[in-house]
Amino acid sequence: ISAQKDGFRYFMEKEIYEQSLVVAETLMGRIKDNSVVLDELSHLDLSSIDAIKICACGTSYHAALSASYMFERLAKIRCNVEIASEFRYKEPLLDPKTLFIVISQSGETADTLEALKMAKQSGMSTLAICNVDNSSIVRTADMTILTRAGIEKGVASTKAFATQVVTLWLLSLFVGEAKGTIEESILQREIAALLHIPLVLKVNESVHEKIRRLSKRYLHGHGFFFIGRDLFYPLALEGALKLKEISYLHAEGYPAGEMKHGPIALADSELFTIALMPKNLLYDKMKSNVEELGARDSTLLIISPEPFELADDFIKTTPQTHMMSEFFEMMIITQLLALEISIRLGNDVDMPRNLAKSVTVE
Ligand code: G6P
Repeated sequence: ISAQKDGFRYFMEKEIYEQSLVVAETLMGRIKDNSVVLDELSHLDLSSIDAIKICACGTSYHAALSASYMFERLAKIRCNVEIASEFRYKEPLLDPKTLFIVISQSGETADTLEALKMAKQSGMSTLAICNVDNSSIVRTADMTILTRAGIEKGVASTKAFATQVVTLWLLSLFVGEAKGTIEESILQREIAALLHIPLVLKVNESVHEKIRRLSKRYLHGHGFFFIGRDLFYPLALEGALKLKEISYLHAEGYPAGEMKHGPIALADSELFTIALMPKNLLYDKMKSNVEELGARDSTLLIISPEPFELADDFIKTTPQTHMMSEFFEMMIITQLLALEISIRLGNDVDMPRNLAKSVTVE
């Protein structure tokens, strides 16, 4: 087995380093002549669709949440997202004019599969975004877009998430193009940014080394808050989930603007704030949220291209012109942070206690 790790300590680490390559696979053949091509959807009549609903679990749910920002912002189509196990029992109203999307790495998650069956029975068009061909979810959905992440062994999902977000970004551009709701100049800007992502996903060894050194300061304390706004809120949720899954430390992801409505009561020097502060999205809003936490003595780890004077620790990201480049660079940093903290604690990174790679029971 160690040979398959190609010299990496854990599969999770290998999979983090593979992200650049697998995302290039996700994009392969899907952008042609400055336009998004998804042959998988050739039978989908988007003119009869006026909204999107997405169901998923775990990390795939976080990808779904990021998609809700992209669909509304880029394709101008209403999008709402639900955790599959919640959706199933709420007696949801299912509208045939809504496209129903499920996202699943394994294609076998019981709650997601059952949500999909419900939607299908109601007559909705169903689309699976999945990493495993011929899985139960792929066999059930009307249409599938495969994410092409390759086999993912680490229980904590990394490269599958990256390929899901890229697929959803492609899909939101595709829907915008098909419905004529995206401006040509925006489409071209997005396509250029998409094509740049495999480069962004190359792990910077010196950043990894810095995170390895930093990790020893983040082993104690009474909790972590990963905070971000807009698209960086689902990323904050995902960063916190990674840390919980493999380090067993308490971590929460929170929308930065919501901290003042309760969680800031927890702030003291034993509370670690991990702030995702991209330059291209609501930087000044984030800054004032983080200042409030700093003023209450929270220990601040700032992830940003811009130095921040209250920071206890600072991981500098590359200045980028597109928020999604910042998104993916920060994604890698949060993955590496969870990895290094977990390794330092002596945990089994690839097989965390109490968790399974895919949950096929309710
Ligand atoms: C399990 C895994 C998670 C995963 C979730 C959903 O809980 O441990 O990493 O995100 O299932 O899995 P799916 O295969 O549907 O994406």
